[in-house]
Amino acid sequence: MPEHVIEIVDLCKSLGGKQVLNRLCLQVRRGETFVIIGRSGTGKSVTLKHIIGLMKPDSGTCTVFGTEMGKATRAEAETVRRRIGYLFQSGALLASMNVEDNVALPLREIERMPEDQVLRTVREKLDLVDLDKVELKMPSELSGGMRKRVGLARAISRNPELVLYDEPTSGLDPIGTAAIDELILSMKKKLKVTQIVVTHDMASARRIADRIGLLYDGRIYFTGTPADLDETTDVVVHQFVHGEVAGPMTEKSGETKRYRRQRPPTPPPAPPTPHPAPAPEKQDFPPPA
Ligand SMILES: Nc1ncnc2c1ncn2[C@@H]1O[C@H](COP(=O)(O)OP(=O)(O)OP(=O)(O)O)[C@@H](O)[C@H]1O
Ligand SMILES: [Mg+2]
Repeated sequence: MPEHVIEIVDLCKSLGGKQVLNRLCLQVRRGETFVIIGRSGTGKSVTLKHIIGLMKPDSGTCTVFGTEMGKATRAEAETVRRRIGYLFQSGALLASMNVEDNVALPLREIERMPEDQVLRTVREKLDLVDLDKVELKMPSELSGGMRKRVGLARAISRNPELVLYDEPTSGLDPIGTAAIDELILSMKKKLKVTQIVVTHDMASARRIADRIGLLYDGRIYFTGTPADLDETTDVVVHQFVHGEVAGPMTEKSGETKRYRRQRPPTPPPAPPTPHPAPAPEKQDFPPPA
């Protein structure tokens, strides 16, 4: 068995006239949880779409379970996809189906499981994501966080060997976030699945990651353990991790200049003022004329 479940080499992809990925390289080891961080619009979701074969590289290769997804036939890509669970950024539930049918969809359509087993599996997966008595609800009746967890239940319904999570905790409160983090940790520990998690939440990334990769400038700019991330002196990594407005990331995109322009000029320091004169005592009645 190859050590790497995913091997991406020099992946280039332009979309809408913009070079989104530029010679991106990434290797994900069997059984590890690899977290991808990076600014909005840098190509994190696009990278996941190459792994699942929804997008094809302009050049370079993306090999998953030994199959090069860009060259795979439809049937070969489908064989790989059956081993992958994907939690879309939007949750991607079908609005016209209740929760039970949404989670059951891949079990009925792809696995062709007998109905009693489908219902048992749906119940088990909803338990795992901590949802109770929601089977008959429609997606529109759920909160954003609940919809996300239903999407997660569906992503893991077929016991995939590789799970891709696109922002699994965005829009969740801190307790909901911690519960999803626990789930991701237990998927690794109990089921030994390989996982890629895209997130903006640094606390969550530190909790769940074996390794973290920062996507910047069309490639994985930095890879390391959470401890490596904290210890590096790299200014780009430092800016992202600490969420600083000024730094090389925003300098390059022109945002720093914009930010400086938008800020009102700093007023000169006010001269020291003497203690204000004591306020006149409050009088309940006007003084006699
Ligand atoms: N189908 C598409 N057609 C044209 N442009 C696209 C398409 N999909 C993505 N893009 C562009 O590619 C870039 C990267 O998009 P992507 O969705 O991967 O960003 P992201 O890193 O996931 O951002 P976010 O953190 O906001 O989800 C963006 O500029 C986006 O507009
Ligand atoms: Mg995205």
